[in-house]
Amino acid sequence: MCGIVGMVSADEFYAREAVQRLKRLEYRGYDSFGYYYDGKLFKKTGHIIVPETKDRTKMIITHTRWATHGGVTDANAHPHRAGKVTIVHNGIIENYEELREGLKEKGRVFSSETDSEVAAHYFDEKLKTKPMKEACVDFIKDIKGEFAILVMIDREDTLYALRRDSPMVLGVGENINILASDIYAFSDVTSKAIFFENDEFAAVKSGSYTFYDRHGKEIKKKIQQFKWEQEESTREEYEHFMLKEIMEEPKAVRRLILSLETEQKENFGKFVKLMKESRKVTFVASGTSYHASLLGVYYLHKCGVEAQTIIASEFEHFVGVDRNTLVVAISQSGETMDVIEALKYAKKNRAKIASIVNVPYSTVQRMSEISLNIVAGQEICVAATKSFVNQVTLMLSIAREFGFRINTSNIPGKIEKIFRQKDKIEKMAKELNRHNDIYVLGRGLSYPVAREIALKIKEISYMHAEGMMGGELKHGTIALIEKGTPVIGLISNKDYDMLSNIKEVEARGAHVIKITNEMKGDFMVDTSNDGKFGILATIVGQLLTYYVAKERGLPIDKPRNLAKSVTVK
Ligand code: G6P
Repeated sequence: MCGIVGMVSADEFYAREAVQRLKRLEYRGYDSFGYYYDGKLFKKTGHIIVPETKDRTKMIITHTRWATHGGVTDANAHPHRAGKVTIVHNGIIENYEELREGLKEKGRVFSSETDSEVAAHYFDEKLKTKPMKEACVDFIKDIKGEFAILVMIDREDTLYALRRDSPMVLGVGENINILASDIYAFSDVTSKAIFFENDEFAAVKSGSYTFYDRHGKEIKKKIQQFKWEQEESTREEYEHFMLKEIMEEPKAVRRLILSLETEQKENFGKFVKLMKESRKVTFVASGTSYHASLLGVYYLHKCGVEAQTIIASEFEHFVGVDRNTLVVAISQSGETMDVIEALKYAKKNRAKIASIVNVPYSTVQRMSEISLNIVAGQEICVAATKSFVNQVTLMLSIAREFGFRINTSNIPGKIEKIFRQKDKIEKMAKELNRHNDIYVLGRGLSYPVAREIALKIKEISYMHAEGMMGGELKHGTIALIEKGTPVIGLISNKDYDMLSNIKEVEARGAHVIKITNEMKGDFMVDTSNDGKFGILATIVGQLLTYYVAKERGLPIDKPRNLAKSVTVK
């Protein structure tokens, strides 16, 4: 996590412009922020505030933090300075204690608790005896851990950037170069990007750049031309990005369907072919993307495909992969460290890698033999909503190729029907607001949905929520049900087993809220198709979550302690 932006330009630009760019990356972490230009250092805890200053500069580095080593304090905020060196860092320097001790012995005084400050002292110390290029080679050799790091040296016109396992990309503009954690930071200025691979570094000036490998040998890099929907990065008339992004779901699904029939058609065919040729298909994902993968496995299983999914952070402990396995990563950001680590493990064991991502050219996509884009557009709210809907729609489209009966073209219209129940959902949210615990029950296809709704409720509404298999209830959790306990029951297609589970909690006084398609319920979803039920019921949950959080006055788009792109283990 953490977001970094560095700019170097031939012409002066407003320093505040860089901070505005950083704000686009705020979903990567928002514990503190800071910037450095022309001898001026600013750093502070809290969300990014774009400064009023009219200062203009030609070079700046900026950082937004998601704390790992060291508490959320002004001193631990980046940038960190040592002598003539200023740095911003995303990642974790694992051997920082050892390095810090060595630097202290040389008389270095540290002013923060972070691992990152070590990097500033490291470079300042090295520069006493070596040119920067050699210092970078040494850094890559000496550092254990992950880094995307920008280094500015006083009175020099070059910005240095180094990368291992944390994302870093160079946006190449006219007389301006922008280094950042991802393309959002500069997608309004240029659509030309160069992605850093592991253990590469670059010396970047206003009109030029040079890339090097870990040995300091100059390397030629390919410029990628990327495409991104710019119009979606503003909140428009909505109070929160979360609501805006939920409302965009019909449009996002239409865009995906069209893209699978046009620009992604060939790739889609190849993707399905690769799946068909593989003896074993194993999905890997985290958070919401994991729930989308669970639904995918359900759909594939219904048409006889042997597939499984494993949470990325536990992947190598619970699954064996080999050259006959196709590992399919699902990730909105394409940068989740746990997913990347799982893919490295899969690669080491010679499995084939495929992926389904939202952010083009992300690390996960670049690690894959073949990759599909869900084209959901930029998702800014930390909680995933439209990306989940598009991930599931894509899984349905894939399952259809294996015989799953589904017509995806009417999904957008059915989502719009859910939106018509908004007032009713809002009313229910007012009632739920009084509670601190909630249970969400599903079975079969609605089990992943139960988990996804519970996750949304936890992260956005700060309410303890458990999403579970209806059948497991009687093995423990039912002990927690008492008079008035809210329970969301997901009942699709007259699932009588699910109905029995609902009866069991009702008998103990629970207040059951039913989301169903065929029976009398509190919220109706208009489908008799198992596949669509998953999407539509989740959207009811997304809206319910949104309105509970709104009722509570919570920071909906940036919930505490979370980040959208989780680039630490
Ligand atoms: C974070 C986000 C979640 C997301 C998860 C996986 O925890 O807050 O919304 O589902 O990461 O992210 P990915 O980008 O891999 O889908």
